[in-house]
Amino acid sequence: MSENKIEIKNLHKAFGKKVVLDGIDLEIKKGESLVVIGGSGTGKSVLIKCIQGILVPDSGSIKVDGQEIVNANEEIRDAMHGKMGMLFQGGALFDSLTVWENVAFGLIENKRMPRKEAKMEAVRLLRQVGLTPDVADLSPSELSGGMQKRVSLARAIATRPEIIFFDEPTTGLDPIMSDVINDLIIESAKGLGATALTITHDMASARKIADKIAMLYKGKIIWQGTVKEMDNTENPYVRQFINGCSQGPIKVEI
Ligand SMILES: Nc1ncnc2c1ncn2[C@@H]1O[C@H](COP(=O)(O)OP(=O)(O)OP(=O)(O)O)[C@@H](O)[C@H]1O
Ligand SMILES: [Mg+2]
Repeated sequence: MSENKIEIKNLHKAFGKKVVLDGIDLEIKKGESLVVIGGSGTGKSVLIKCIQGILVPDSGSIKVDGQEIVNANEEIRDAMHGKMGMLFQGGALFDSLTVWENVAFGLIENKRMPRKEAKMEAVRLLRQVGLTPDVADLSPSELSGGMQKRVSLARAIATRPEIIFFDEPTTGLDPIMSDVINDLIIESAKGLGATALTITHDMASARKIADKIAMLYKGKIIWQGTVKEMDNTENPYVRQFINGCSQGPIKVEI
């Protein structure tokens, strides 16, 4: 039996009266790539933010490497943070910094790497995601959406995290660029031996990246399994979601 890198038990999070996470149970094994699928506004980003310690859950447990992180002290939270890398929904690059400074941000700020060395490392990372050194001194706003995703990916892996979160990594990209980014995600996660948690509603991306898929609906994980199991499941919620039907048990509130 391989060990769990992340273990979530009975996690709850509400904002005022709005219950977002309503008893999440989820385990991610070391080195595994888990993809959480679910409709817009179902709490996928909130779930990641709870694991990262950006949001504090109302109750429940999140363990990383067996260590409880809910309400943990600052020292433990900092140590956990050091293990994690993140590709934000929408990229979230700093426009006031150059491309290389974005990529090297964690290296300079958290790992205290000297700027010259950090720039060399940033250029190496940019190459790894298919960008040439001449983009290093540009501003992120001078890049296309696909290039920005590559930069975000380079930044996410820069500190060689043990856990990488990908929040909607392919949103806004054409199908071919999406596939390129998916390949890069697989390569970089496997290359680092990292545990990956991706959230997406792009099923092509989910199929490609996932060792395991979990579906979030009404605050709970209502189904999980492999891609093959997903294709064979009779679960009407999963079937509706993967087929993208407006008809079915999932009602979209307009
Ligand atoms: N900081 C916050 N304060 C109040 N409500 C919040 C906060 N963050 C998220 N929410 C609410 O929680 C719900 C889930 O949001 P979340 O961003 O996790 O959705 P999502 O599943 O990531 O959706 P999408 O696929 O559109 O990104 C939404 O109703 C949102 O308004
Ligand atoms: Mg989201």
